[in-house]
Amino acid sequence: MYSRIVSTGSFIPSKFLTNEDLEKMVDTSDAWIYPRTGIKSRPIMDEGTTVPDMAFYAAQKAIENLKQKDSNFDVQDIGLIICATTTSNYLFPSCACQVQGKLGIDDCISFDVAAACSGFVYALSVADKFIKTGTVKKALVIGADALSKTVDPTDRSTIILFGDAAGCFIIEASEQPGIISTHLHANNNHGDALTLRNKQFFENNYLEMEGNKVFRVAVAELSNIVTETLEANNMQESDVDWLVPHQANIRIIEATAKKLNLPMERVILTIEKHGNTSAASIPTAFDFAVQNNKFKPGEIILLEAFGGGMTWGSALVKY
Ligand code: ACO
Repeated sequence: MYSRIVSTGSFIPSKFLTNEDLEKMVDTSDAWIYPRTGIKSRPIMDEGTTVPDMAFYAAQKAIENLKQKDSNFDVQDIGLIICATTTSNYLFPSCACQVQGKLGIDDCISFDVAAACSGFVYALSVADKFIKTGTVKKALVIGADALSKTVDPTDRSTIILFGDAAGCFIIEASEQPGIISTHLHANNNHGDALTLRNKQFFENNYLEMEGNKVFRVAVAELSNIVTETLEANNMQESDVDWLVPHQANIRIIEATAKKLNLPMERVILTIEKHGNTSAASIPTAFDFAVQNNKFKPGEIILLEAFGGGMTWGSALVKY
């Protein structure tokens, strides 16, 4: 038994903060930001919107897309909702429970996963296991975050990076893969290099980051996880058709593509327009590729992410 991605959807706020806007807010420039990060703009969630709202809009889109292929699909058949987020409006009810309510689902397993920017790969891995064990048949896996709301507006080293968005996969039980394998890791040795304190317990609750350290750990561990994922499946670099990376920094992405011997045309990139949308970056980039008919049935796609914790992970998918 495997799980298989049957639909995707995403929500990107309509308001964007550009590098030119940032030049007016902090001591920075497009000439500094773009070559170092690959980012030109980032979507910013409206004041009246919440992370569960964005998660719901992305889920609705994925459901609409699925209904076009399968008119019998009924939301009550969803047995599991996992939302990867670290920026939901409430600690409880979870973002997943709020999405369940907004979708009008009477009863299904619903919970959040917190693994910062690796959250979506973590959530996908957990949902895959629920399906593989036969516990549920259909699941919504959502990545939704609004890290732009957590940065110090005077800190030029973090405000340039983060945007807000939500993306959703619908996965279901299948005889064929699907999700071939997932690989998750965490190591707290460098946990202090990327932190976001809980508002209830700290006065300073801005996101704090030692960018250099995060960069070094990310490049090293993403290289290791490429090797681990390929070896676990007896595959070569040339077997991978597409890379859908967490969109944190174009230079980190280029390093992973190089490790895979993959030309950049085979890497799904949304970073220039969207920046780093944390747990939303992989599902929104994947959905962007699907909507633009990039993937062909049977192609092999590698998803990879790293984030606060430090956490990192990958998922190998047959489309
Ligand atoms: N504009 C102009 N100058 C800046 C800016 C800016 N926006 N930001 C920093 N600088 C300055 C610094 O003050 C420093 O100046 P100094 O030498 O006079 O002290 C200089 O530029 C170099 O700073 P570094 O931090 O060493 O810059 P670096 O080359 O490492 O680039 C960056 C910074 C882009 C943040 C990079 O380290 C990076 O992308 N790291 C990865 C971060 C990341 O991906 N985080 C998300 C993780 S995912 C998650 O879980 C949330």
